[in-house]
Amino acid sequence: MAKKTLNVAMIGGGFMGKAHSNAWLKVNKFFDTDFDINLKVIVGNKTPLEAFAARWGYDEVSYDWREVVRRPDIDIVDIGTPTWEHMEMAVAAAEAGKHIVCEKPCALSYQQCLKMAEAAKKAGVVTYLNHNYRRVPAVAYAKQLVEEGRLGTIYHWRGAYLQDWIMDPDFPLTWHLQSKYAGGGPVFDLSSHAYDLARYLIGDAKAVTAVNKTFITERPLPGAGAATFSAGSKTENAQKAPVDVEDASFAVVEFENGALGSIESTRFAVGCKNYNDFEVYGSKGAIRFNFESMNELWFLDATQPQAEQGFRRILCTEGVHPYVSAWWPGGHIIGYEHTFVNAFYDFLQAIAGKGAPITPDFEDGAAIIRFVEAVQLSSKEQRRVLIEEIK
Ligand SMILES: NC(=O)c1ccc[n+]([C@@H]2O[C@H](COP(=O)([O-])OP(=O)(O)OC[C@H]3O[C@@H](n4cnc5c(N)ncnc54)[C@H](O)[C@@H]3O)[C@@H](O)[C@H]2O)c1
Repeated sequence: MAKKTLNVAMIGGGFMGKAHSNAWLKVNKFFDTDFDINLKVIVGNKTPLEAFAARWGYDEVSYDWREVVRRPDIDIVDIGTPTWEHMEMAVAAAEAGKHIVCEKPCALSYQQCLKMAEAAKKAGVVTYLNHNYRRVPAVAYAKQLVEEGRLGTIYHWRGAYLQDWIMDPDFPLTWHLQSKYAGGGPVFDLSSHAYDLARYLIGDAKAVTAVNKTFITERPLPGAGAATFSAGSKTENAQKAPVDVEDASFAVVEFENGALGSIESTRFAVGCKNYNDFEVYGSKGAIRFNFESMNELWFLDATQPQAEQGFRRILCTEGVHPYVSAWWPGGHIIGYEHTFVNAFYDFLQAIAGKGAPITPDFEDGAAIIRFVEAVQLSSKEQRRVLIEEIK
């Protein structure tokens, strides 16, 4: 029987536009789903996207997302734009009855996320917020170990998401470094991912005590001769503007289940490229993970004889590990892009009404941004903040 075709409108042809387009093209090559996927339209704002459309196989290019999300031939709206635009796009897509994939962080504030969740609930559409690290097989396997009780009572969570890409003081004031577009610095960008993993694996936070820091307080405006990833040359006297987001954050986190933990994030940890790291310590065992070696999970089983205890490296590339049977034989490792494909498979299953509802969704996004706002408030007011204080 012919499968139903779902038409995708991808908004944003940047880093995530590319990662998502790749995942839409791959999902039916590796997984069995109920749907065919058609890349119908790529939506941009100012940068021409005709070459992008040709490369990834989009039928059309548009520069008007408002018109596209209302089109009756669109089934899925995929939002890959900077954070400040997520809410308006997601609410409009939900009101038009579209299923929605949206990039993280969910939105600029807890209140914005609640509006997104409410609109999606009212419309009865499936939403997926792309905290993609949940869909690393090693992380999904860690979840299994926690759920099976192999770690016992959880005492500690240590999450550290470290990068180094803006250490050059001449790196320009792109949207990532302006709170009106990004919400904040690494707390929105990276701690949101780290806290998503903490919630996924051990549960919600109750309170947080945080200190944020901005090291470089003014930067060149983009296009003012500033150094960028690709253009290393610098111009003297480039016009500068103040930075209003943090460069780094350390947070002590008290969890509802009684665990005590930490979540740190920075863009100033030299040598750390995408160092998304966590450790969980429980009464019966412990796990460690670092995305820079994403196929590996380290596990210590404290129920084994003491003389034999030690962290074992589990290469999570066997067919018995989550998602892996769709990919390669054991030992043939996977990468960043596979997490997006795994996620889109789960998203299509959710649309088909198969399996558990997909998470994280916009309600999870609201819980995450509530935590993020609590971190910001704690640092600003130099005090412990209860998550429930964020309204
Ligand atoms: N899950 C992850 O691993 C991950 C990684 C990077 C970024 N992100 C998130 O993805 C989102 C986008 O980040 P990015 O790195 O792709 O940014 P980017 O700057 O590379 O791309 C954003 C694109 O959106 C386009 N755009 C902006 N406004 C638009 C509009 N109104 N209509 C149509 N197109 C518009 C821009 O032209 C640009 O091409 C952010 O929310 C970011 O936090 C997630």
